[in-house]
Amino acid sequence: MNEPGEIGARLDTAVRLARGAGAIQRERYESRLEIDTKSASIDLVTEVDRACETLIVDGIREAHPEDAILAEEGGDHVEVEAAASGYRWVIDPLDGTVNYAHGFPRFCVSIAVELGGESELGVVYDPLLDECFQARRGAGARLGARRLAVSQAPRLADALVATGFAYDVHRSEHDNLSQFSQMVKSARGLRRDGSAALDLCYVAAGRLDAYWEFKLHPWDVAAGRLIVEEAGGRVSDVEGGPAPASGVEIVSSNGRIHEEVLAVLRSHDSRPTSA
Ligand code: IPD
Ligand code: CA
Ligand code: CA
Repeated sequence: MNEPGEIGARLDTAVRLARGAGAIQRERYESRLEIDTKSASIDLVTEVDRACETLIVDGIREAHPEDAILAEEGGDHVEVEAAASGYRWVIDPLDGTVNYAHGFPRFCVSIAVELGGESELGVVYDPLLDECFQARRGAGARLGARRLAVSQAPRLADALVATGFAYDVHRSEHDNLSQFSQMVKSARGLRRDGSAALDLCYVAAGRLDAYWEFKLHPWDVAAGRLIVEEAGGRVSDVEGGPAPASGVEIVSSNGRIHEEVLAVLRSHDSRPTSA
């Protein structure tokens, strides 16, 4: 069990299925879609999210039937029990659904495989740009054939930063808005692009210098955080400790500006526990 070749086989499967789901997203992009809401009127799920998840889950069941699966759209796909093999797949079939539903060209497929609760591999595929980000623990991160490395930006004042807002933003006081305002005043630029997995990959690729968000889910961050770490970046919670796998709090950066980012976030902390 857990031979080195097992991870390689799962990486091949993850890339194949991410590309397969991405092809569905590309084909259906800007077409008429069935759209439903989930936890809030701004929390959407489309028939494409579901079709992508079905393709990925079916593909895993066929190739690695002994593995557990945690997939966002859930239903009878969600399995959180320990698998016979010890591996668990964590899947966001379409990250950036609001963008997708509006025809805004920024969304992706995110697939991670964990062993003992830690991501061992991560694959994030952007179907419109045909960019496949991937990482394997201890073996670095790549975009296609290119090895990824985080940026060298030395100060927050020189940094391009991204964040996002949770689906309870209309009703929660822990809404990230005070941190957002302060970051606008501190960084060179601040973006809200609507795909957490791609934001993390952009930190890994040096396109962004930092990214933070609250109230995410395991499937939003499981692949991207490994890709950042394997590209030489730092991922933490707001206190600078390990970022929880739940996704409830994540701060990522090139490492060099991490303490400055944390200081800004802590100085305008709206988390309920800090009240
Ligand atoms: C969302 C995106 C978005 C982030 C939200 C996520 P979804 O994922 O990653 O950027 O701000 O918090 O829930 O719902 O499109 O898979
Ligand atoms: Ca997501
Ligand atoms: Ca999603």
